[in-house]
Amino acid sequence: MSNQEKTLTMTVLMTPDMANFAGNVHGGALLKLLDQVAYACAAKYCKNYVVTAALDQVFFKQNINVGELVTFHARVNYVGRSSMEVGVKVVAEHLRTYEKRYTTSCHFTMVAIDEQGKPMQVPRLQLDSAADHRRYAAAELRKQLRQDSLEKSRALQMDLEEDV
Ligand SMILES: CC(C)(COP(=O)(O)OP(=O)(O)OC[C@H]1O[C@@H](n2cnc3c(N)ncnc32)[C@H](O)[C@@H]1OP(=O)(O)O)[C@@H](O)C(=O)NCCC(=O)NCCS
Repeated sequence: MSNQEKTLTMTVLMTPDMANFAGNVHGGALLKLLDQVAYACAAKYCKNYVVTAALDQVFFKQNINVGELVTFHARVNYVGRSSMEVGVKVVAEHLRTYEKRYTTSCHFTMVAIDEQGKPMQVPRLQLDSAADHRRYAAAELRKQLRQDSLEKSRALQMDLEEDV
């Protein structure tokens, strides 16, 4: 059994101040919560301050309604030297019917930094189950795809740093 704290769950009631013009939960309000969950999950895992380096594959599969109870399931899938991939899955629950809907998923790259803001080493991830190995391999593939995409953008001179 692993003694590592690699998962975190947070439940938040969707209140009217989170609404967009259509009356559903605003994507930005959800992104803020996602970032907080990813922060807490990674910081708890490495017992250190972390920053968000990247966010990929945000998939807003279904909208979320004001009044629903939303649970964020976060997990450290992969660990490099200083970076950690945190996957977050979002489930919305209707308070009266108890109906649950999977609404959103995404992957954050969080980096542990020291007091000078320099990336610092984090503990190696213990893989305890076949599912852990599968998630690790998928995260490794995403990391590779992210790097490939960055290199291709640079080769095509599509790097945003040059465009803005
Ligand atoms: C994230 C940050 C610490 C990386 O610093 P850096 O000098 O580029 O550090 P390095 O090149 O040594 O990379 C450190 C790690 O970050 C990862 N990383 C860096 N840039 C990344 C990116 N764009 N996407 C994913 N991972 C990235 C590297 O792969 C490396 O991982 P590893 O140690 O596990 O191999 C730095 O860019 C930073 O402080 N960014 C601002 C973070 C922030 O303010 N976030 C809030 C947004 S408002």
